[in-house]
Amino acid sequence: MYIHIQGYEMAYTDAGQGLPLVFIHGYPLNRRLWEPQVEGLAGVARILAPDLRGHGDSQAVPGPYSMDLFADDLAAFLDALGITGRVVLCGLSMGGYVAFAFYRKYADRLSGLILTATRAAPDSPEARTGRDQAAALAREKGVAAIVESMAPKLLSPKTVEHRPELVAQARAIMEHTSLEGVLGDLAGLKERPDSTPTLAEIKVPTLILPGEDDQIIPIQEAWAMQAGITGSRLVVIPNAGHLLNLENPQAFNQAVRQFIEGLRDTD
Ligand code: MLT
Repeated sequence: MYIHIQGYEMAYTDAGQGLPLVFIHGYPLNRRLWEPQVEGLAGVARILAPDLRGHGDSQAVPGPYSMDLFADDLAAFLDALGITGRVVLCGLSMGGYVAFAFYRKYADRLSGLILTATRAAPDSPEARTGRDQAAALAREKGVAAIVESMAPKLLSPKTVEHRPELVAQARAIMEHTSLEGVLGDLAGLKERPDSTPTLAEIKVPTLILPGEDDQIIPIQEAWAMQAGITGSRLVVIPNAGHLLNLENPQAFNQAVRQFIEGLRDTD
């Protein structure tokens, strides 16, 4: 499905009924990442999964894409669907940075947060240099070169060794990112603010889901978020790396299902 928001065509998935549960993918990914959640959780909530601008089937528009811009896109998306009540946001990695931005701007639209394979800290000076190098690589050699460099890190070493079909799936998802999308993300990631001060401000129920073998964001970052967000819960997803929802959908979906059911009980 497509919807026109903020001057571009956004592609999205809308499945199931009930409490809206919005899934936000990371860099350089798209909503196909969430297929196991659409399948496993549509009986529990209304699953909404947009492709961020420049990703997947959404229109490619020039960047930079700040985390605030993505948060505004999401608010406009909910407005366009006529969703005025509270939603739960689940953001993976860059999607988590967007969730922090959304919280800062639109906290009154949220009933819960799921922060997965993400961190509150901004880019270190080395990471910022890495963003510039990645942008130069993408300009010179295209998105395929970015896929090559990211593919070995996105999944756990065990997944890479034993599950070639998942490696192929992750690559295919990344290949569906436009050059504008890659460059827009890199510019926004590099400049994203420190969300550490936001942690103490988060007043909605929060679930933190790291993959035990994440090679991109160390699991310590998840424990740091848990220490900073009062009352938050952390569940380590075993046998999974950065794309934990794809690598271990049973454990991921079970943790999300319990969280959503807990929200209903406290309503
Ligand atoms: C992501 O998966 O969104 C990225 O790895 C995040 C990042 O590079 O900081």
